[in-house]
Amino acid sequence: MKSIYDFQIKSKEEFEIVQDKSKKYPEVFWSEVAGAFKWNSVWDKVLESDWTIPRTKWFINGKLNITENCLDVHAKSTPDKLAILWEPNDPNADSQRITYEELLSKVCKFSNGLKSLGVKKGDRICLYMPMVPELTVAVLACARIGAIHSVVFAGFSSKALSARINDSKCRVLITADGAFRGNKIIDLKSICDDALLSCPSIEKTVVFERTLKKIKWNPKTDIRWDDLIQNMSEDCLPTIMDSEDMLFILYTSGSTGKPKGMVHTCGGYMVYTAYSFLNVFQYSPGDIYWCTADIGWITGHSYMIYGPLLAGATTLHFEGIPSYPNWDRFWNICEKYKVNQFYTAPTAIRSLAKHPKELISKYDLNSLKVLGSVGEPINEEAWHWYDENIGKNKLPIADTWWQTETGGILISSLAGVTDQKPTFATQALPGIVPELVDKKGEVLKDKSAEGILTITAPWPSIARTIYGNHERYKEVYFSAFPGKYFPGDGALRDTKGNYRITGRVDDVVIVSGHNLGTAPIENSINEHPGVAESAVVGFPHEIKGNALMAYVILYDFNLKTESLKDEIRTLISNSIGPIAKPDKILFVSGLPKTRSGKIMRRILRKLANNEFNDLGDVSTLLNPEVVEEIKGQF
Ligand code: WTA
Repeated sequence: MKSIYDFQIKSKEEFEIVQDKSKKYPEVFWSEVAGAFKWNSVWDKVLESDWTIPRTKWFINGKLNITENCLDVHAKSTPDKLAILWEPNDPNADSQRITYEELLSKVCKFSNGLKSLGVKKGDRICLYMPMVPELTVAVLACARIGAIHSVVFAGFSSKALSARINDSKCRVLITADGAFRGNKIIDLKSICDDALLSCPSIEKTVVFERTLKKIKWNPKTDIRWDDLIQNMSEDCLPTIMDSEDMLFILYTSGSTGKPKGMVHTCGGYMVYTAYSFLNVFQYSPGDIYWCTADIGWITGHSYMIYGPLLAGATTLHFEGIPSYPNWDRFWNICEKYKVNQFYTAPTAIRSLAKHPKELISKYDLNSLKVLGSVGEPINEEAWHWYDENIGKNKLPIADTWWQTETGGILISSLAGVTDQKPTFATQALPGIVPELVDKKGEVLKDKSAEGILTITAPWPSIARTIYGNHERYKEVYFSAFPGKYFPGDGALRDTKGNYRITGRVDDVVIVSGHNLGTAPIENSINEHPGVAESAVVGFPHEIKGNALMAYVILYDFNLKTESLKDEIRTLISNSIGPIAKPDKILFVSGLPKTRSGKIMRRILRKLANNEFNDLGDVSTLLNPEVVEEIKGQF
């Protein structure tokens, strides 16, 4: 049997050969890669795909449990190998080093604990946790027994949490008493208590004790993590899953309406995350790999847990934030653990670049071999800062483009193997077929072109549906350009076929790497009794990439006060989370609208970006005078 390492591409020539093969014979290609994993029974058909329905199925009738490939396989062959290195928020507190054997027994114990609560295959379990190893244990325990995990980022508000719990009717909530974030303690349990006032499907709440702060306790439903696992066996046979059974749900913001619960399934997700992890980051056995994301996002799922563990890698998880106790924390951690692959977001890079270089030069960063970037376009300045100061002009930078929906990285250089180009994500990975189209869907055939990015061929880790709403899945991703997957991003292609992602082409704004739909923010602003209407747009921000600006019409224009702005921000914070608070709120008497009543967001975006001279023809608007009025307010 081949190992997944046999599929690690080592040269540009090999990349071209593999690219070619994967395009010509995708089913042969992916079935060979899939053969590197342990399956309980092998698939009888590799692929079934019809994007008019839309439907995508991989490794049909294959049976497996992903945790066997993440844990048991390595616990058997290399039991003492480190699976997780954990660095706590407080640099003086104890770190943890968890081997594959230990991780397996922790996962089994917790799996048995979940079973004792009556959790069974197909049940949805919500996780709202700090970045502690128990979060990974809980994720894998769900996967082990066939329960579907839905991790909600622990920065979301109680309303956002309850909306996500209710959407997928989770039976159990796993949380902690609190979370340490820098010098703050976040009271996770009380946020959960609030959320659970409107979550009838939750039967039990498992509480991991992290901060040991006093919390409210509901003896009928709350169970301490330690009590749950006490006396549980360290063995738990994995539940055999179908390749297309749901592995997890992860919510992502849409441009309209409620968050979309993206559904990922077992087989294809396993094959693609492991394959892309090994190829993009060029991980070698023994390396220490660190992704600074939070497990609450897809990057955490695919490239902190599943991808690295499937490859038997050592993955470093950090509980804290880059600024605590000082802005040198990341470099301190790189030195402490001799990190080899470092994967972070442009927002973090831009924040770090604001601080004195002595904070970097204090540390020995010679262990670093590969740098990565994810979550938003990386601008020229940030790219060069990263290259010069962290990469010392000699390390490859993998700018990885992908999405919650894609499950894994689709466009990126393979670090040190294929060419890189500042601000370009560069080439599609093997098996991925991008195509640029114009607004009408015409394919842009010129080598060098700029347009809307689509993907034309199925890949194993594409999200299969939106939980409970297949119609919306079809509408959002497959109806703009029938037969093609539409990710919602614009892109530019150079003559060598390198892609640069230019940003969202819909009403999603990426703020500090977090996707925020503008409609849900507007809805929460409109909840204020004084507000008649609002429009939220993004504008470029030096550190965050984008920031939000809200244009708000009040019923009574005389009520425009700073305290009203605070009230609006609090409303948003309560309904979504602090990340969705606009940087600027402007009270206006009207919003520019077309004659059919549609808000002209293009104009609002330009105004927010001070592009007053480039507004285009506003004379056809229903109310051109408001444009002048808004200009006057800046
Ligand atoms: C954006 C994060 C440019 C893009 C993995 C995408 C990027 C959205 C890049 C998905 C990149 C992500 N360059 N833009 N390297 N990576 N994006 O679902 O707009 O949180 O559609 O997944 O982030 O964000 P999500």
